[in-house]
Amino acid sequence: MSNKPLNVGLVGGGKGAFIVHPHQKAILMDGTRRIVAGALFPDPKIALAEAANWAYPIKGYTSYDEMIAANATLPADQKLDYILIVTPNFVHFDPAMKAMKAGIAVFCEKPLCLNLKEAAALVKTSRKLGVPFAVAHTYLGHWTTRLSRYIAQSGLLGDIRWVDSYYIQGWLASKLEATGQQQAAWRVDPKRAGGSGCGGDIGTHALMQLRYVTGLEITELSAQMETFVEGRQLDDHLTTYCKLSNGGKAMVRASQICIGHKNDLGITIAGSKGTLVWRQEDPECLTILLPNQPDRVYWRGAVSAGDGFLPKNMPAGLLAEPTIPAGHPEGFHDAFARLHRCFEGDVRKWKAGKKFTSDGSQYASVEDGWAGLAFIETCLKSSKKKGAWTAMPKKI
Ligand SMILES: NC(=O)c1ccc[n+]([C@@H]2O[C@H](COP(=O)([O-])OP(=O)(O)OC[C@H]3O[C@@H](n4cnc5c(N)ncnc54)[C@H](O)[C@@H]3O)[C@@H](O)[C@H]2O)c1
Repeated sequence: MSNKPLNVGLVGGGKGAFIVHPHQKAILMDGTRRIVAGALFPDPKIALAEAANWAYPIKGYTSYDEMIAANATLPADQKLDYILIVTPNFVHFDPAMKAMKAGIAVFCEKPLCLNLKEAAALVKTSRKLGVPFAVAHTYLGHWTTRLSRYIAQSGLLGDIRWVDSYYIQGWLASKLEATGQQQAAWRVDPKRAGGSGCGGDIGTHALMQLRYVTGLEITELSAQMETFVEGRQLDDHLTTYCKLSNGGKAMVRASQICIGHKNDLGITIAGSKGTLVWRQEDPECLTILLPNQPDRVYWRGAVSAGDGFLPKNMPAGLLAEPTIPAGHPEGFHDAFARLHRCFEGDVRKWKAGKKFTSDGSQYASVEDGWAGLAFIETCLKSSKKKGAWTAMPKKI
């Protein structure tokens, strides 16, 4: 395949949309990817008008059906290289499925879709057709998350005994949806959000952070899904106590009613040798706590292998992941860019007929998206039974 930038088509992203904007900055960040097309809005006229008003020229389509059909029959080097799905949850499954069948790779927002049945169908199709598929679990893209994963999985913390993985917000502490606020309105509607509100929206991020960093799976959980704001149909607060695949324990918790909390996602991992602490609101560093020693703070880009805690033989790929120098802070957009960059690598290999991994080590895979839905459905079952211990489904 040539070195020309990969062509990306948007599904959603018009008129007041939120998450399309960090994505589009991240797509453009390296100069090797660009957005060239979009089906930006459900109303066809508005969709075209929004595309015509895009900051740079893109081809507008009246619907994602039209955009995917127009590309399906083009030769591989002319069709869209991937689509980015940034619609509410109920408009994930259909465009993802249709794009894969049209030979277009998929980068889809989380949660992957509305339920486990849809998720299983997406996994099966991506495996059968061998199409690269990413799920937008943003926080895996922080370099310090990658370092956390290395530290936890290479045994530097000892046996992992306890994990607290959380995502706490306050923006839905009152009935914001009643004002017609766009992002709140669909997130509290079961038809558009799925079976869980807070759990699906941000609990899945906390789950993914735990799974990605520790490499452990939840085997059983006891969940309380609660709704504090009167008249709301879906949960706005989720607490789960979990058994982990190594015999350890964890909490995965999420809330949208904690006034003052913004995007307070973080993870504490307590092992038999030490503890790791990371918070996404301060994403340029992580802290290691060891017995009878001063705390060690590791900053992105300023890490030395063989420093007495980190071993000499750290993976070169991890140390070399291209970034701006330490002290020029990276953030949310850079995390998204790292995910798109890694996905680009797999899409280029796929297009060149080479093997690609899409194994969840660089960005969340479609199987990880399935695990998010498995978690939500298990929480729903457990919570209905007043928090009874409930087994997670076997890995797909
Ligand atoms: N990864 C993250 O950190 C993160 C953060 C926020 C949101 N999200 C996810 O991103 C998705 C979108 O969330 P948002 O907050 O940006 O929502 P939003 O309401 O701001 O934007 C959704 C956009 O999709 C459009 N849309 C709806 N149906 C469509 C259709 N059939 N065809 C074309 N466009 C259509 C809407 O008009 C709107 O432009 C959700 O799945 C959400 O969970 C992820």
